[in-house]
Amino acid sequence: MKTLFDKTNIEKLQLKNRLMRSATGDSLIKDGHPTEEMIRAYEELAKGGVGTIITGNAKITDCKIPFFDMLSIQDDSFIPRLKNLTDKVHDFGTNIILQLAYFGSLLGSEQGEILGPSPVPHLYSNIIPKEMSKEDIKSMQKSFAAAALRGKKAGFDGVQLHAAHGFLLSQFLTPYYNRRTDEYGGTIENRARMLIETCLEVKELVGTDYPIFIKINGSDAIEQGMTFEECKYICKKLQEVAVSAVEISGNVYAFTPGQESYFKDYAAEIASEVDIPIIVVGGNREYSVMEAALNETAIEYFSFSRPFIAESDFISRWENGDTSRVKCVSCNGCNTPESMGRCILKK
Ligand SMILES: Cc1cc2nc3c(=O)[nH]c(=O)nc-3n(C[C@H](O)[C@H](O)[C@H](O)COP(=O)(O)O)c2cc1C
Repeated sequence: MKTLFDKTNIEKLQLKNRLMRSATGDSLIKDGHPTEEMIRAYEELAKGGVGTIITGNAKITDCKIPFFDMLSIQDDSFIPRLKNLTDKVHDFGTNIILQLAYFGSLLGSEQGEILGPSPVPHLYSNIIPKEMSKEDIKSMQKSFAAAALRGKKAGFDGVQLHAAHGFLLSQFLTPYYNRRTDEYGGTIENRARMLIETCLEVKELVGTDYPIFIKINGSDAIEQGMTFEECKYICKKLQEVAVSAVEISGNVYAFTPGQESYFKDYAAEIASEVDIPIIVVGGNREYSVMEAALNETAIEYFSFSRPFIAESDFISRWENGDTSRVKCVSCNGCNTPESMGRCILKK
């Protein structure tokens, strides 16, 4: 029988358990750098027994996101303080993965161009991006790769490309956002091209043995959204380009608050069809539900965000035998920029 505390490997990366902190932005950032407070918060998480921490999204280009300060990796000046963060987390035998993102029209920018696949208003912000030229596309792929290399230099155990939740890479996958008629739009094969080429560009720069995780929606659950069948197709393509793990998320507005492990069915079906380790995120709260999913499906890992805000050391509690349900904060509309700015990693 498999357990949540099995020691496993994702390629060469060793994981002390199957439990991860999913990417969670916080407000413990100053001018794009992690503050001492953030390093202490991550130290608490690592002490609390989690096997792998995925950082909140880090900016890969020099844009200025309105509302809040954002972790940044767009040039080498960010490497030294991120190295302090990774060193601290590694002291506890915990892995740390850097999430890379381009927000584009999701939040806009107070400087420079806002780029997107097509000039359609974002359903969240109403912002209309500039349609990316082929040069913009190549340059964006190179920005992801350069950011990944900086992450490697800063001691991260891998990177996660954020291709979920209406960020740029997910916009390319979604027919509503992607109205292109060139080889990056139209069929799912074309819409997946941006993500696949970005993975290849990253691999080329950081080396084939450096872990790349992807976060993706199981389905967009919107009209003109990427469907579940299309997500399965993309995951098969991701397997062909040898990504290391895929985290299955979804539309945060498409589930009933309080529902347990709400993207589990998507994740289980994908895990049964592809040969990449699958992580499921969203509403994971009950130890017994996850243990059953681990043994009854091919899902291998479980990630959590809000539970760590409420109880940073629940993994140790579970490991020590008290497997009662994890507490959770529910700050209505958790994935809004406002709440992301306010929510901090504190009990
Ligand atoms: C405060 C906060 C910040 C978040 N920041 C990110 C982020 O930077 N990147 C990301 O992919 N998801 C982010 N998420 C989403 C979580 O990773 C996760 O997908 C979602 O909260 C569902 O998991 P949960 O039910 O365990 O909270 C954030 C969620 C919260 C609550």
